[in-house]
Amino acid sequence: MSEELRPGLEGVLVAESELSYIDGEAGKLVYRGYAIEDLAREASYEEVLYLLWHGELPTPAQLDRFSEEMATQRSLAPGTMDVVRELADQEEEPMAALRTITSALSAADEDAGEAEVTDLEANVRKGKRITAKMPTALAAFKRLRDGDEPVEPDPELDHAENFLYMLNGEVPDAVLSETFDMALVLHADHGLNASTFSAMVTASTLADIHAAVTSAIGTLSGSLHGGANANVMRMLQEVDDSEMDSVDWVVNALDRGERIAGFGHRVYDVKDPRAKILGEKSEELGEAAGDTRWYEMSVAIEDFMAEEKGIPPNVDFYSATTYYQMGIPIDLFTPIFAISRVGGWIAHVLEQYEDNRLIRPRARYVGELERSYPPVAER
Ligand code: COA
Repeated sequence: MSEELRPGLEGVLVAESELSYIDGEAGKLVYRGYAIEDLAREASYEEVLYLLWHGELPTPAQLDRFSEEMATQRSLAPGTMDVVRELADQEEEPMAALRTITSALSAADEDAGEAEVTDLEANVRKGKRITAKMPTALAAFKRLRDGDEPVEPDPELDHAENFLYMLNGEVPDAVLSETFDMALVLHADHGLNASTFSAMVTASTLADIHAAVTSAIGTLSGSLHGGANANVMRMLQEVDDSEMDSVDWVVNALDRGERIAGFGHRVYDVKDPRAKILGEKSEELGEAAGDTRWYEMSVAIEDFMAEEKGIPPNVDFYSATTYYQMGIPIDLFTPIFAISRVGGWIAHVLEQYEDNRLIRPRARYVGELERSYPPVAER
């Protein structure tokens, strides 16, 4: 047995997967062989879900059927909506709320507790329900905490359009819905990132898919992972408020030993291809609004980080200003990452169940051995 220590499991291969491939030196990402650039430009989130879960792109008839099945699963059971209301009343933090609500979805899922944990067809049905209902729950949570009533999902709208409709109470224009759909496609899967691995670890114990997705949401919430997108925007606002030059602000932050949110990646050595695509979107949105301040600030920081630190931006750097310019509240950025990545989590959980082995690494023990136990009274 190897005694080599690999902190953070860096570079360790733990599974075979056919879902997504990352070439960190070339800055390349593919889902099941299809380049992320092509999917971002051409495919809808529903198509990508189908591709990830079923292995092939859907035919028009398959896509219609799949999209319809997803659309009819969007409503929340009354008991689940009660949970959403309660959490909104308590002003729960949105990622914690989404984690709790997603866990609660199993109570009203007709397959949960009935089908075998590894039953593929039941898991695809559960996966559709989870993926269809998470956006409804998030939009309802946001509206309720703002003192508005939830908006019922509209089955005539596609997944991305419907989320923005439920969030804002009006059908979004084509630019907004296409941008949002593209963001969902870009975030849908990314190899064995921490939250996906967390879902796989949970599934590997033969816990069910709701447990796996709930674990993953908890893992995504941290600032080194999904939480970074909200931190990017908070940082840019701080830079703006400081009225300092953005590069000077970053130099000061680095001098204080801080990390710059939205930079660095365990797998990419070069610019994340998703950041390239979202950077273009962020620029377009700024130009359309006649205010390219956020984009220009971002480019200045990116150039500095590349030249001085050799650290390129990751997906979160430009998703932040993209969402912000779409009018999405900052504390919903990470939950929005979750309502996309749930597609990848489910795909990896299906792969895990198909060829399961309990995931159970070891730690090198560096504590003491053979101490004699003193009774409480003698300590
Ligand atoms: N800002 C400043 N320095 C950074 C940095 C950042 N965002 N990311 C990495 N570095 C530096 C580290 O300080 C370290 O330098 P050192 O060797 O001189 O100590 C070096 O780069 C390697 O960092 P390390 O933490 O070992 O890399 P990792 O693979 O463990 O971490 C991340 C990857 C993503 C956790 C890390 O880049 C990070 O914290 N980024 C900011 C949060 C973020 O955007 N997360 C979203 C990822 S999609």
